[in-house]
Amino acid sequence: MGWNTWNAFGCDADEELLLTSAQSLIDFGLRDLGYNIISLDDCWSIGRNSSGYLVESPIKFPNGMPSMISQLHDMGFKFGIYSSAGTFTCAKHPGSLGYETQDADLWASWGVDYLKYDNCFNQGQSGTPKISYDRYNVMSQALNATNREIIYAMCNWGNDDPYDWAYLIANSGRMSGDIYDSFNRPDDRCPCTEAPGCAWPGFHCSIMNILNKIPSITSRTMSGYFNDMDGLEVGNGGQDDNEYVSHFSMWAINSSPLMIGTNIPTLSPANLAILSNPAIIALNQDPSAGAAVRKWRYLVEPDDNGQGEIALWTRIMDNGDIVVALLNAGNSSRTMNATMNDIFFDQRTAGAYKTPPELSETWNVYDLWANRMSNEEAQSILSGSNGTTANGTRTGLYNATATSYADGLQNNNTALYGAHVGSIAPSGPFSAEIARHSVGVFRLRSQGNANPRKRDEL
Ligand code: GAL
Repeated sequence: MGWNTWNAFGCDADEELLLTSAQSLIDFGLRDLGYNIISLDDCWSIGRNSSGYLVESPIKFPNGMPSMISQLHDMGFKFGIYSSAGTFTCAKHPGSLGYETQDADLWASWGVDYLKYDNCFNQGQSGTPKISYDRYNVMSQALNATNREIIYAMCNWGNDDPYDWAYLIANSGRMSGDIYDSFNRPDDRCPCTEAPGCAWPGFHCSIMNILNKIPSITSRTMSGYFNDMDGLEVGNGGQDDNEYVSHFSMWAINSSPLMIGTNIPTLSPANLAILSNPAIIALNQDPSAGAAVRKWRYLVEPDDNGQGEIALWTRIMDNGDIVVALLNAGNSSRTMNATMNDIFFDQRTAGAYKTPPELSETWNVYDLWANRMSNEEAQSILSGSNGTTANGTRTGLYNATATSYADGLQNNNTALYGAHVGSIAPSGPFSAEIARHSVGVFRLRSQGNANPRKRDEL
């Protein structure tokens, strides 16, 4: 989790922006909610010096990278750098192909903690999984050889099926072309709708486009390697509140890295409330480290973008809870139903048929958006007048710096469990009213000790 410069600022990122944003992340309680990586994207380097080392722009980083990185460390952040496994980055700044060891050594000496590694200008070294693997592996080895712990975030947009090999060498891998701030508008620049075998990932990919590439690669999200659905657009103005709730919820439930991609100092109360929901973040940080399964999807009446669909997603959490997401990407508000047979479809069809024990349980239902922070409370945090202690820590919010989400979940910290809204009788129906382009996210907890089976092998 963290903050990345690209979606909101493109090439316009400098030391002042990074330090100001870091301070706001602290002031608004976001660092302590877990957003603790400051990730600088493209356009920071002006070239190489006579010894071949990358040089930062003296205009953007007048005090040099090491000094800024050490300030960010002192503020409690990790620092992320960006480069490309090509001769240039995507914005035509120097890339790292052929300079992997030298660049990794330089970054380690600066104190870099995270590398986003892009795919532009790769000299045609792509086209088969093996060719891409070999090219990305050179940087993986170089990072390991530094002996500094550096998170390796591959960004090859799902080319050459990274789902089958990138877990061997990286910590995350982008699985789609670039996101843009639209809920579901199709765009010819993002031609792929299914992930595996996608030859031209492109860019201008909507939230629904990226989300609908996940079902076939669900099993390729695992502890240590995460499918990266790209940085968040929450706050950038292209979607309404319900759409941002859907975007944030579906990224969280699928264990995509949560990298905020907006201007932090000007965050609105509503957007702060979305990004600050600890019950949703806890899904993202769950020790199960898995993704959700789309159990069904139906097309419904289209909206102005010619799109309309509804879907049921579920995920089994580490403690045996079942999370249910009812996504209404249709054009009007509707009552959505899910049967226990749908929710436990995988258990029902595992091996020889026998009624899954989960169907004879009574389940308590917790609405994970019911305790969303009010706009008034969010506004008071933004104006620094509510619950902010002298060292900038918000008291009312979940503090993951002090207690990890895993520990909080184990201790039944109520901030992580939403609001109890009812229960479902054995095999009973489950339904909820879901607004247009919104999602209901519910945690089902067994009243008994059903200890639901996990389908780790799927
Ligand atoms: C793209 C990448 C984006 C951003 C951009 C910078 O290839 O997918 O996330 O990093 O390059 O030029």
